[in-house]
Amino acid sequence: MECHDAINARRSVRDFTEERIPEDTLKRIIAAAYKAPANDHFRDWHYIVVTDPEVKRQVLEGIPKNLTVKDVDRMTFISDPVQKESYQVAVPKQYRMLYDTAALLVPLMKKKSDILHPANLSDLNCYASVWCSIENLWLAATAEGYGCNLRIPWGEEEAVAQKALGFPDGYLIPCFIGIGRPAPDAVLTKQINVDLDDRIHWQKF
Ligand SMILES: Cc1cc2nc3c(=O)[nH]c(=O)nc-3n(C[C@H](O)[C@H](O)[C@H](O)COP(=O)(O)O)c2cc1C
Repeated sequence: MECHDAINARRSVRDFTEERIPEDTLKRIIAAAYKAPANDHFRDWHYIVVTDPEVKRQVLEGIPKNLTVKDVDRMTFISDPVQKESYQVAVPKQYRMLYDTAALLVPLMKKKSDILHPANLSDLNCYASVWCSIENLWLAATAEGYGCNLRIPWGEEEAVAQKALGFPDGYLIPCFIGIGRPAPDAVLTKQINVDLDDRIHWQKF
C-alpha cells in the first residue's frame, strides 16, 4: 500500500474477527515503530506483545467492562454532536476492543523527566517521540490490512498492567493498543471534516 493510501485508510477499529496475526507480521509492524523520529536518538521504547488470553485478562483487569452510552451523557467535555456519537460508539467497547484482538500491544516509554509536571516543553520530548512510534506502527498495521485502536491508561489501569506484565519501574505506558483483522461489520466513527483552506495558512495566519 502506498504511503498516502495507508494514511487515508487508517481508522480506529474496535471490532475484530478471530483471525490471529503471524508472529513475523507482528514483528514487521512493530519494526515500523522503530523507524519513527526520536528526540534523543535512543528509541529506547519497548513493545510487549500479549496474545495469551489469560495474560490479556490480567493486564486489562483495571479497565471498566460495563460502560454504556449513558456514561457518555455524563462526559461534560463533549461539545459536538459528531464527537458525542463517536464516544457513544467507542466508550462501551473500551475493554473488548483490547481483549477481543489478535494481540494487545503495550508500548513502554522510559521516563526521563516528570512529564506530568514539565518545566519546559522539551521535558515532554520522550512522550512525543513514543507517540511518533505508535503512529508509525498504526500505519504499518493498516498497510498490512489490519486495524488498531488505542486507549490511554486511566487511574490504576497502568499499575494493574505493570503488575501483570512485570516490567520494571521507570517506564510509562502511553497507551494500550488493540490490533487485529477488522470485522466486516466493524463500526467506524464519523469523522469531523476539516476544511483545509481554513487550517493551512500560507506566509501568515
Ligand atoms: C491521544 C489519543 C487518545 C485516544 N484515546 C482513546 C481512548 O481512550 N479510547 C478510544 O477508544 N479511542 C481513543 N483514541 C482514538 C480516537 O477516538 C480516534 O482516533 C478519533 O475518534 C478519530 O477516529 P479515527 O482514529 O478512526 O480516525 C485516542 C486517540 C488519540 C490520538
